[in-house]
Order: sequence, then C-alpha cells, then structure tokens
Amino acid sequence: MTQQFQPKPAPGRSPYVIAHRGISGKAPENTLAAFKLACEAPGIDMVELDVRLSKDEEVVVLHDRTLQRTSTGNGAARNYTVEEIREFNAGSWFHQSFSSERIPTLREVLHFINGRRWMNIELKSDFLHREQPFLLERKVLELVDAAEMNRAVMYSSFDHRMVANIKRTNPEAITGVIYNLYRDFGRLPSKLARRVGASVFVCAKHELTPGMVRDARQHALAIYVYTLNTTANVNKMMELGVDGILSDNADDIVRYIKRNDR
Ligand code: G3P
Ligand code: MG
Repeated sequence: MTQQFQPKPAPGRSPYVIAHRGISGKAPENTLAAFKLACEAPGIDMVELDVRLSKDEEVVVLHDRTLQRTSTGNGAARNYTVEEIREFNAGSWFHQSFSSERIPTLREVLHFINGRRWMNIELKSDFLHREQPFLLERKVLELVDAAEMNRAVMYSSFDHRMVANIKRTNPEAITGVIYNLYRDFGRLPSKLARRVGASVFVCAKHELTPGMVRDARQHALAIYVYTLNTTANVNKMMELGVDGILSDNADDIVRYIKRNDR
C-alpha cells in the first residue's frame, strides 16, 4: 500500500473496505491485535481508529472518553499518563486470549501498520475536557509526519472545527466530516464539507438519503458509511453508490464486495 490515498476508488472499482477500529468483530477494538488482522486480510484498503489525549498529552488510540468499557482502567483516559494507561489490560473484556493487549499510542500504531494499509485517523473531542485549540490536531499531524505517512492518511472527526484545523495546518491533508444527525440534520453534505475543506462525507447507514448522495456526487465528494456488518446492508449501500464501507468484519465484507474485482 505505497500508493497515495485518494478519497474515491478508481472508476469502476468496488468501494473501499475500511476496518472499523481494526477487525473489531474478531479482536478487541483499537488494539494491535485488531490492526494485525486488518493488515493480514487481503484486499482491505484502510484501517479506521480513534484518537484522544492522555494526561501527559500523548496521542492514544481509544474510542471512548473513559477506559472502563474496553480496558481494566476506570474513568477518563485524560486523567492518566500513557505509562499508567499502559498498565491496563485492553483485551480480556473481549476474550481471555487477548489479555496481553494494551491501549496503543498512535505512534506505535503508525509504526505497526507501517504503510501496509491506508489509515483513517478519527480525532475525538471531549465535551468534558475542552482541549487547548489545535493541541490534538497538531500532535496527530506531527506523528504522521514523523512516520512519513502523510500520503496514506485521512483525518476525520465529528468535531468539524478539528477537521478545519487539520486542513489549515496542512492544506495537503485529505479530510472527512462525520455527520451528526442531531446537529447537522437538513444540511447537505457539500455544505458541511465545503466550509472545512473536506473531500469525504462520512455518515451512519441509516442517515444516508438519495438526496445526500446526489448532492455529494454533484460536488465530487466521496461518501463513506459506517458500520456495515451484513451483506444486506452492504448491498443496499452499494446500490446507493457509496465510495467507502466501514465494517467491524472488514475481512468478511472484503471477500463479498471484491469478489468481482480483478
Ligand atoms: O468514522 C466513522 C465511525 O468510526 C464514527 O463513529 O463512534 O465508531 O467512532 P465511532
Ligand atoms: Mg471512529
């Protein structure tokens, strides 16, 4: 996967298959075990992961604001240093066989994936802990730059200010806005994307309407949809003509979707 990431697949090709939090249906989400499966399964285009800051302002790969759902830790990750976070077991909640998994840092994951897959880095904002403006964005961009992965990354967020900040700092960055039905209802994809310079529109499968697809097409925006774990859902979204599919079982979905590709 040394090719530069493009928001849309080449004409006539199947939608991108994106491993949502890694192969999170078969290994604990956002761990190296889940990312390893995504790198090993043939045909997967991209790995999605979620990032936020620790107490010592390191970028860690974790979905929730708090630790308890996916690790043996408790409370907000922002209250623990990376060293403290590393003590927690991030795999046993999923299955005993993953008890050696830890919450990884973004630096570690960039190193681990090492260009084998494109990466969708989703920046999480914390409504209970407003970060200093640009802090997470700057740290993420620095890490990607240091790993020389600029060409292989897409940045996205529900927090569109963060998307704007990424683009302002690195105008070359490919970015995506994630739709929030309650906040963004009635706003067209092109409007949301254009005001922050995004080239990808990301939404949940039940949120996408034919009108939104039409608008995205007219403005050359790519559409990615989450989380598609059944072939019925995949068929429906492919009929609508989406460009990317995020799945917890991307290894199964890729076999189904790409059976007709070369
Ligand atoms: O980026 C798509 C998807 O990951 C957004 O939702 O909650 O799974 O991070 P969530
Ligand atoms: Mg996510």
